[in-house]
Amino acid sequence: MVDLWLKDAKIVPENRIISIGIEDGRIVSLKKIAPKREENINLRESVVLPGLIDAHVHFRDPGLTYKENFRTGTMAAAAGGFTTVIDMPNTIPPTNTVKAFKEKLKIADHKSLVDYSLHAGVGNLKEIESLFKLKPASFKLFMDLLDDAVLDEIFREIGKLNRENQKPLISLHCEDKDTVTISTQKLQSKGRYKPEKYADARPPHAETIAVSNALKLARKYKLAIHICHVSVKESLQLINEAKESGVNVTNEITPHHLFLDIKYLRKYGNLAKTNPPLRDPENKITLDLLNGVDIIGTDHAPHTITEKMEQNIWKAPPGIPNLETALPLFLTQINRRRITFAHLKTLLCENPASIFHLEGKGFIKEGMDADFVVVDMKEEGVINPDKFKSKAKYSPFKGISVKGMPVMTMVGGNLVADEGEILKNKGKYI
Ligand code: NCD
Ligand code: ZN
Repeated sequence: MVDLWLKDAKIVPENRIISIGIEDGRIVSLKKIAPKREENINLRESVVLPGLIDAHVHFRDPGLTYKENFRTGTMAAAAGGFTTVIDMPNTIPPTNTVKAFKEKLKIADHKSLVDYSLHAGVGNLKEIESLFKLKPASFKLFMDLLDDAVLDEIFREIGKLNRENQKPLISLHCEDKDTVTISTQKLQSKGRYKPEKYADARPPHAETIAVSNALKLARKYKLAIHICHVSVKESLQLINEAKESGVNVTNEITPHHLFLDIKYLRKYGNLAKTNPPLRDPENKITLDLLNGVDIIGTDHAPHTITEKMEQNIWKAPPGIPNLETALPLFLTQINRRRITFAHLKTLLCENPASIFHLEGKGFIKEGMDADFVVVDMKEEGVINPDKFKSKAKYSPFKGISVKGMPVMTMVGGNLVADEGEILKNKGKYI
């Protein structure tokens, strides 16, 4: 007897109805019909996807927990259908020492409702090797904050790591520091305060310059790189050309860079302020470019409404919460036949699992972790930030109509979200 059956689940894109047997947190059996008299949850032919993986979240824990913490962040994840998250290192202290990394692991161990991994930051170069032994998903570098010479040095050091058991990966926020600094100073000195000026301060070429630079470094030091939140068409082209020529590079886009544009920065001002900024329609990533994209990462970057709204566009912190909007937005596009289930699974489950080496994740197969999100493709609604489990109850997607919602999330065979209710669970480090 297995622990539990998910009975009559619709697997996509095959549209087959199966029952999934779960034991000790893993998938142990896929059958046409669940055996009678064994414990089951009847899904009545609802679509079941592998639990989503978000390789880009900022949970603010420790140090900035007034914005979010590992509990509220993972509540938002579970509500949005995400069963694995990878947290970014820009907390206080930053996750760039062994001590801080271990401290964050302890916090996550106490508070996380879903499974998790961590991106490491880079501070003292002498710590890189011992940090690497703790198995971070990647080393994350913010190019908007680092000089070229320092970047080169960091790549060189990471390139020296022992690659026998694990290959190092560098995740990059690609915006060129000098370009951003100079353009920002120019606009600020002219006294420009219109929200859309923020996009001019971090123009498309700030991204493409940084992307080119990152690709050069990857080639020079033979390192794998992952480019976060690509916001400009041309960057995607540069990345994919490099990939074809043998560079070990993957890319990520966010729901906001895909579905929103600069109009929303004008409309919502600071609430839509994010790095890189929302783009004009000419430069932005569009649905028809999704074939050249490796993963979707939400860049869930919560702040308080007060710090967002009570400061001018230059001072307000960048970032928007996204864990609870991403899946409904993409399911809506599936309902509109603009993307397919197969593609969604590649972008939000399979590719993130393989890029970040998340064993047991990304697929509904025997032996994999019993992580699922059940969706109702007929349920309609409107994005309503008041209902977010995240502490950050704002969104530039507010009021947008969606069709297709997550209704149940399971992590390691345990129900964690059920019709909007969040249940207890202990996520694990992977
Ligand atoms: C990030 C955050 O808030 O941590 N914000 C964002 O707009 N993406 C930091 C950053 O990437 O600049
Ligand atoms: Zn980020």
